[in-house]
Amino acid sequence: MATNRRTLLKGAAALAALPIGLKTSAAAAQSTPAGTPGATPTGPMVVGTPEASLEVFSWWTSGGEAAGLDKLFAAFSAGSPSVSIVNAAVAGGGGSNAKTALQTRLQGGQAPDSWQSHLGKELQSLYVSPGYCAPMTDLYAEQGWNSVFPQGVLDQSSVDGVPYVVPVGNHRGNVLFYNKALMESNGITIGDTLTLDDFFTACDTLKAAGVPAVALGDRDSFAAPQLFENTLLGVLGPDAYSALWNDPTQWSSDGVTQAIEAFAKMLGYLNPDHAALTWDGAADLVAAGTAGFTSMGDWAYGQFVSKGTEASIGWVTHPGTAGSFVTVIDGFTLPVGAPDPVNAANWLRAAGSAQAQTAFAPFKGCIPARTDVDASSFNDYLKWSAADFTTATAVPSNAHGSAAAPQVQQAIFDATIAFIVAPDVETYRATIQQAAQDDAAS
Ligand code: GAL
Repeated sequence: MATNRRTLLKGAAALAALPIGLKTSAAAAQSTPAGTPGATPTGPMVVGTPEASLEVFSWWTSGGEAAGLDKLFAAFSAGSPSVSIVNAAVAGGGGSNAKTALQTRLQGGQAPDSWQSHLGKELQSLYVSPGYCAPMTDLYAEQGWNSVFPQGVLDQSSVDGVPYVVPVGNHRGNVLFYNKALMESNGITIGDTLTLDDFFTACDTLKAAGVPAVALGDRDSFAAPQLFENTLLGVLGPDAYSALWNDPTQWSSDGVTQAIEAFAKMLGYLNPDHAALTWDGAADLVAAGTAGFTSMGDWAYGQFVSKGTEASIGWVTHPGTAGSFVTVIDGFTLPVGAPDPVNAANWLRAAGSAQAQTAFAPFKGCIPARTDVDASSFNDYLKWSAADFTTATAVPSNAHGSAAAPQVQQAIFDATIAFIVAPDVETYRATIQQAAQDDAAS
């Protein structure tokens, strides 16, 4: 369902979070076996004496991702200076490797103190339903988070009305980054919005000049599905796009077929090494001017900042998607039976604070999940993203786990790989529809 901006912003009053750090209550930290599904939840407001270390699990290892994570760690360390942080990040864009490794740990009762999760379906299916996450109702109340996250973000952070994750950053997934000098030298003008027709005209111009127009790094399994979902959104518009995730019959519309055809056409402009590159490698091609565009999320801007290449980059919404904001929101969980429950709770207090989110956003490439932060010091890119978020229609990302169940996401990933190898429009469409139907029937 498309989330209207009023709904998203409802309740986003300018309440500041309570100070970070240990509370003075003498309540004792509870201890249950790490990651034991169904064990008595560790109290989310746990307070007491910090343990020696805090282990945080994520997939943030690229330049901008690691720089952003360091800012969150610094915010935690400011309130817990004696605690050593174990950064258990597993490389792989979109969490493809990390999520698999994490499942092994959770199933073996080896939960870290906190792990990264997308909001929405991923949180619900992979972590809450199996009983790995402790509820955070009390922590939310203590920190005033119900008033500082938009209602749409709160909804996606919760299962049956109970919050299970602390959102830290909100990325826009439907952004088309481009090399400004390359466009200029080829006589291409990119305005504030871009139609699909104008995009393909620009692609043809670049192709004639011998330059790959579309940089893709589909060694990361999310990259091509993200290009596809952005194209679906551009052709269908936000309402019909959102309906796809709730009603499998919507996959048989003419608009879906048109979007797949447009996606197939885009694949004709790729960098020849796309299968060998990751998303950040593809972004680097654009920064270097050896490819024209890359359709990616805000985190690409964090990559440009980390490499000092941001001055070469322009941006516009993915063709046809102006007025829509594909939300890709990361948060951190509290496990049932955290090994270091006092530290875990303090980590979440820090990560949810306005200070930490303001420090994190410019490096990671995202806007804060909180809406009560001062964005005046942000770079022009983040100011653009933050301003658009207040007016655009928010829609979920399937490539990043929020829109559909993990099995539907995986089916689309697999079908997309097959489509790149052998682009048959009807097979692709029908395979996805079948996966959506199977999930709805399960
Ligand atoms: C997304 C995640 C972002 C970014 C991106 C590339 O799934 O939400 O924070 O890290 O993957 O790895």
